[in-house]
Amino acid sequence: MKILTIESTCDETAAAVVDENRNVLGAVVASQVGIHEKFGGVVPEIASRAHMECILPVISETMEQAGVSLSGLDAIAVANTPGLAGSLLIGLSAAKSLCLAAGKPLIAINHLQAHIYACRVAFEEELFPCIGLIVSGGHSSLYRCSGPIEFESLGTTIDDAAGEVFDKVASMLGLPYPGGPSIQKMAENGNPKAYPFPRPMLHDPDRLQFSFSGLKTAVRYAITGPGKSDVFAVGLSGQQKADIAASFQEAVIDCLVGKAVQALKKYRLKTLCIGGGVAANTRFREKINAAAEKYHFRLFIAPKKLCTDNAVMGAIALERFKAGLFESLDLDVYPGLVRDPQIAGR
Ligand code: KG4
Ligand code: ZN
Repeated sequence: MKILTIESTCDETAAAVVDENRNVLGAVVASQVGIHEKFGGVVPEIASRAHMECILPVISETMEQAGVSLSGLDAIAVANTPGLAGSLLIGLSAAKSLCLAAGKPLIAINHLQAHIYACRVAFEEELFPCIGLIVSGGHSSLYRCSGPIEFESLGTTIDDAAGEVFDKVASMLGLPYPGGPSIQKMAENGNPKAYPFPRPMLHDPDRLQFSFSGLKTAVRYAITGPGKSDVFAVGLSGQQKADIAASFQEAVIDCLVGKAVQALKKYRLKTLCIGGGVAANTRFREKINAAAEKYHFRLFIAPKKLCTDNAVMGAIALERFKAGLFESLDLDVYPGLVRDPQIAGR
């Protein structure tokens, strides 16, 4: 069996072909980082237009790598939730057109479930039941996952997502987009204890939520002093910037690790699976590994290239194929989270 998977939820245009054993026969990612860099974040309209230019070349290259033609596919799958509306529409329109042209069934992918499934693809071990933690530019979410497509939301961020706050703080420090890798690099020379930044929500184990906007304000005050309108780190020395980056990174990571441990304890689960761009962070990986040893849970973190957006994690479409979950060609995009992620896209 061969499934073509398409990913265009945010600013990466990606496609992959996977077989029934999750072998990756072809995979291509076209990143838009260079396009959005000068704006310090993703500009949705520009992202959609870039997807439009890239989507067909990316799909063709993937099919070529896989040595498969449209007629050789068993299904075409596409992430239709959550994400940027215009970006999602490009992927969905491409998938529907190919389904119509080639007479193939359409499968919907929930992008967040796919981020967790990246661990299944990478490790080929039974993951479920587990706690799923997704830490990306748009999401910081905890799930109780009883199966690959059975997710119950336990809590999300009430304001900024983890990746979003990395991007915003990087911008305040004058560091390039995307902020996560820039902060990580800057933090290497900094003291994570230099600034006592808050760890919001961590004191309450019953609230499995994140909040990063207060932390962001604390960083801003560390840069400018309270009440000043200038948010940029003009007068700071290199060492001060590094100390702020390291202290900020440590605070975000403490919240993510702490809440994941609280969720495991609350639901008496022994497996944690993590996906999303922020999971590429080296310090985060160190601290969550240390927590796994201390609290004795099994830990699966997607490898770095499957943490950030890609279409290989779209192999989750195999699960929907096996369950007979196909979509009609009037499938729509759902930019916000669908209430019941089992029914991706409805
Ligand atoms: O999962 P992803 O590629 O796209 C979304 O679905 O959002 O995540 C992108 C986010 C960006 O905010 C980026 O700054 C963050 O992941 N990120 C990192 C690192 N690499 C990427 N954050 C912290 N440390 C990193 N090394
Ligand atoms: Zn993502």
